[in-house]
Amino acid sequence: NHHTMAYLPLVLFTLLSFQLPSSFGGKILVFPLDGSHWVNMKVLIEELHAKGHEITVVRPSDSWYISDKSPFYTSVMLPYSSGFEENIKTYLFQQLEIRLQRKPTSFWSHMWTEIEMRRLILDQFTQFHKGMSETITQMFEDEKLMQSLHAAKFDVVLTDPGFGGGTMLARRLQVPLVFSVRWTIQGETHLLIAPSPLAYIPFAGTELTDKMTFPQRIKNLLSYSVGMYTMSHMAEPNYKPAVMKYFGPDVDYSTFFLDADIWLMRNDFVFEFPRPTLPNIVYMGGFQCKPSNPLPADLEAFVQSSGDHGVIVMTLGTLVGKLPQHITEEIAAAFGQLPQKVIWRYLGQRPTNLGNNTLLVNWLPQNDLLGHPKTRVFVTHGGTNGVQEAIYHGVPVVGLPLFFDQPDNLSRIRAKGAAVIVDIAMLERDIFAEALMTAIYNSTYRENMQMLSRLHRDQPMKPLDQAVFWIEYVIRHRGARHLQTQSYKMSWFVYKSIDVIAFLLTVVLFMILICFFSLRLLWRMIFIGKKVKHERSEKQKQSG
Ligand SMILES: *[C@@H]1O[C@H](CO)[C@@H](O)[C@H](O)[C@H]1NC(C)=O
Ligand SMILES: *[C@@H]1O[C@H](CO)[C@@H](O)[C@H](O)[C@H]1NC(C)=O
Ligand SMILES: *[C@@H]1O[C@H](CO)[C@@H](O)[C@H](O)[C@H]1NC(C)=O
Repeated sequence: NHHTMAYLPLVLFTLLSFQLPSSFGGKILVFPLDGSHWVNMKVLIEELHAKGHEITVVRPSDSWYISDKSPFYTSVMLPYSSGFEENIKTYLFQQLEIRLQRKPTSFWSHMWTEIEMRRLILDQFTQFHKGMSETITQMFEDEKLMQSLHAAKFDVVLTDPGFGGGTMLARRLQVPLVFSVRWTIQGETHLLIAPSPLAYIPFAGTELTDKMTFPQRIKNLLSYSVGMYTMSHMAEPNYKPAVMKYFGPDVDYSTFFLDADIWLMRNDFVFEFPRPTLPNIVYMGGFQCKPSNPLPADLEAFVQSSGDHGVIVMTLGTLVGKLPQHITEEIAAAFGQLPQKVIWRYLGQRPTNLGNNTLLVNWLPQNDLLGHPKTRVFVTHGGTNGVQEAIYHGVPVVGLPLFFDQPDNLSRIRAKGAAVIVDIAMLERDIFAEALMTAIYNSTYRENMQMLSRLHRDQPMKPLDQAVFWIEYVIRHRGARHLQTQSYKMSWFVYKSIDVIAFLLTVVLFMILICFFSLRLLWRMIFIGKKVKHERSEKQKQSG
């Protein structure tokens, strides 16, 4: 009948569009990082799958977030455990304890907390890198596994260089390499590969902006020196034995990273301060964002009950389900003072003073809530998904930064006038309520965030399409060597042209010396000549 006839072109088209991409499909090996980074990586994987690529994911046997079975990829299970989940939970708990133990009221107490925090992170990361190095050694020793990976003939390895494993595997298999990255094992990506003048580029963790006073620039330079030193000492030594064993004694491990074909950066210049970059860095910040869907009926009813006051949404991410009781009570009291309705993801014990405007939930549809027109403010710890989704939907932020680069992430939004930050060690009901009211009632915060949102959405290509394009580009051209600068093959004194400057200075010095000596010679000749003449005329006078 004519109904089926009408659908025929559509059916044909759908069939075709399913078949066409698969004939160009590549084979992609993904070596992901577990936890929240995997949540992001999965967005990429699903899109690559939809484009007809064949994806294989390497996962440890006790993987936390990375499931074994998926319609989007086949998994290769490593027959050993990583202990990632347990470790990261203890580590974060320890970090939180340090952050809470002392109020940063003075410069010194702040400083001391920072030092303790860095020391802890140094210890923790050393452990992590050791574990990763063992995992990769076990993997390389597993001949059957390695043979099957070789035989699979992958077109590209996609990995997160926060740990060293994926990069070494790509090198071992001799396959082009694409990173999904903000941090490598040696620090923030730009600082490693792009020219980074410290006069206007704040070092990670300093919470500085691109406009620095003289004392701030001192802080920036010192933080950079200390930071780069510790970073190089916590990562490389742990991988060195494995690198020596499998790649030879005079191989420099850091070049494995610098050798990547494409760096897909999980940020952009709406979020980041303007700075020099390189041709093989591709910005895909906000690639995980998507339009919101309608809320479940009960949640929608709760949101609608807020009337014109609107709702506050709070979550501290997947890792921090609970906080110490006294802090929880301060937060609950602050919420209770406000006329807004609150949706708060919290897994700990229910605070006794919870206001009747506050709904505690175990899980919330973050993206759908942020996209809801009644959402007034988002209380977040500054993780990657939260910050990017808040920018995407234009919702102002009250930040409670907890770990790693979260303070830095939030300080960027604050610098753009779209966030209020509260130090969790200083959190009291009045301070927190004040911060919430500022973000809700002072319209500049919302206006600034909506400006960021408009800028973020106004791009020639969606960030996710951009990411997929460049992965396919590497597959099509077997790498992207022509986009790499030569910088990483140079020693630091060649890179900084120290040798040329030294040479030129020597030449100038030489010329100055030649001038000096010839002038002296000339001077002597004239002077001595004069003296001789003079003496002669004296003699003539005497004799005359
Ligand atoms: C919530 O509590 C406030 C003050 O404690 C009270 O005025 C209000 O009627 C309560 N609302 C509901 C729905 O119980
Ligand atoms: C901070 O933001 C960046 C960029 O959005 C992201 O890659 C990073 O994971 C975030 N840091 C944390 C601790 O979530
Ligand atoms: C709103 O916040 C901005 C930026 O912090 C500030 O300059 C302005 O004075 C505030 N406006 C009001 C009405 O408080």
